[in-house]
Amino acid sequence: MRDTGKRATSRRSALLRVLGGGLALGVGGAGAPVAYAQGAQGVSGAPRPPGVSLLPDDALGAFRLGGSAAREGRVERVSVGDGPVPAALRVRTERRPAQSYEVQLTAKTVAPVESGDVLLVTFFMRAVETAAETNEGRTTVVLELARAPYTKSLQLTVDAGSDWRRIDMPFRAAGSYAAGEAQVNFQLGYAAQSVELGGVAVTGFGKSVRLQDLPTTHFDYAGREAGAPWRAAALARIEAIRKGELTVRLTDAGGRPVPGASVAVTQRRHAFGFGSAVAAAALVGQDGDSRRYRETITSLFSRVVLENDLKWPNWEDRSQRDRTLRGLQWLHDQGLPVRGHTLVWPAWRYLPRDVMTLQNDAVALRRRVHDHVLDEVGALRGRLIDWDVVNEPFLNHDLMDILGEGAMGEWFHLARQADPAARLFLNEATIPGDGERQDHVERTARALLAGGAPLDGIGFQCHFGWSLAPPERLLQGLDRFARLGLPIQITELDVDVLDEGLQADYLRDFLIAAFSHPAVEAIVMWGFWEGRHWRPDAALFRQDWSVKPNGQVWIDLITRAWWTTARGETDAQGVYRTRGYLGSYTVEATLDRRAQAAPATLGQEGTTVDIVLE
Ligand code: XIL
Repeated sequence: MRDTGKRATSRRSALLRVLGGGLALGVGGAGAPVAYAQGAQGVSGAPRPPGVSLLPDDALGAFRLGGSAAREGRVERVSVGDGPVPAALRVRTERRPAQSYEVQLTAKTVAPVESGDVLLVTFFMRAVETAAETNEGRTTVVLELARAPYTKSLQLTVDAGSDWRRIDMPFRAAGSYAAGEAQVNFQLGYAAQSVELGGVAVTGFGKSVRLQDLPTTHFDYAGREAGAPWRAAALARIEAIRKGELTVRLTDAGGRPVPGASVAVTQRRHAFGFGSAVAAAALVGQDGDSRRYRETITSLFSRVVLENDLKWPNWEDRSQRDRTLRGLQWLHDQGLPVRGHTLVWPAWRYLPRDVMTLQNDAVALRRRVHDHVLDEVGALRGRLIDWDVVNEPFLNHDLMDILGEGAMGEWFHLARQADPAARLFLNEATIPGDGERQDHVERTARALLAGGAPLDGIGFQCHFGWSLAPPERLLQGLDRFARLGLPIQITELDVDVLDEGLQADYLRDFLIAAFSHPAVEAIVMWGFWEGRHWRPDAALFRQDWSVKPNGQVWIDLITRAWWTTARGETDAQGVYRTRGYLGSYTVEATLDRRAQAAPATLGQEGTTVDIVLE
């Protein structure tokens, strides 16, 4: 039963998602110290200080069945004769509701937590019966603020078969919550299923314990193994679609071919958008970290997006404007293309404060949004390659609830009008091939296109927790969206897991899968440095700039494996040919003491560079 870090056979079925902060399931009383026991050793094996239980003494007794489809569920308390826990809650879900949270068990916390506190959730689960093809039951355990916006500290999806499975997952509290202000949910609205949950504990350790020192159930993803067939096929596709033929023709001043000259072909930048979110403050900062930040950007990325600076409230905050524009100027000086993020993130909490005061005046509200789109897009005209016109409409639709779904189309039209060259994206908080938001993305995109909106591409954010979508599923999802006939970008990639080996392998496989898909034109990380990252554990570089295993993966793939430097000699016709990754190049030809260099841009159809050696 102690499968912490060990149960290799069930790894594949594990889907975990942690969005941030922390909770732990306590076995002791409310607010009482809990010695974390049950054989779970910290990774270091060192003794751990006691924690505080966030659930009451009788934790199981605290959970109530709720959710808007609660009538589809039944819960009973059962005793477990032969299991690792004496008792469990058996929850039967009769029918799958639209959303998994429409049938869920909920318990309020009984002790306070502070933002950044380390928390640990532990529970046991098994499936009694399930209609799922995997023959496993599923739950998503969540720790969240118990009211809108339901900020989540943990969101972890777990599958279990008929054997008891133990889950331990440390995480960090995303906010400070008084007792009763946060809640623990087990979402159960998946297939028709009957699952048992026991040994539920959520323990808070304050700041005295490190996440790494708490037990963590091992998670994995299908297709990780060396020699996985999907990977070989993807690498072959990359070779076929991401390279072109570069021909160098060398002549002398009289137009005669120059044979036997040496030619050096050096890639300067990727055509593909290998990018990251960046912060204007660090682009203009004078300290050592800012300098390092800028050097890293120019050496590792071919595209960037401002993480927050172009969001509507930030843009309208005049005190930030100058810094934002200076940051954009620095990027422009480096020749780095910049995505615009984001024009309308349509929930009140992401909008400037005054916007909500217009909620009872649709005419004024509509005008306020229109003015904003014209203002910001117009002011930045010519400086951005893309705009995320609408961000996360699946989750955030306060504006559409008042203005109608058609309002989105208007924003696209206005953005096009204000900057005809910027490509306009719908950006959604989801992962290709994963989950219930897919249908909504497709419906929204098709409705926009049907209404004549100038929609140029789809952005998939791809913020991962422990639920790592198998690469084959990503590829299927990309195939599905490629059928819309629009380019796809991965706009906000990060892999927020504490297992650095898993994190590195998954980044490698994600990059291989996405780069291999012909519809994908960019993969943008949502930050790279721990010192400036919304999910610091997901960064590529630590605070002290040492490179993490996932950072090494990025460096190896983007600047080595998928990067071309080639050397050779011109043949009898004065020609040298090579295949290279698409992008910009410098080509240099030398013979004796004569040398001549020329820039080149290599596209998929190939390119010929004519060099005259005087
Ligand atoms: C996040 C930033 O990274 C944070 O710094 C900020 O406090 C909140 O927003 N989806 C998005 C991004 O579209 O804009 C969000 O960025 C992350 C989730």
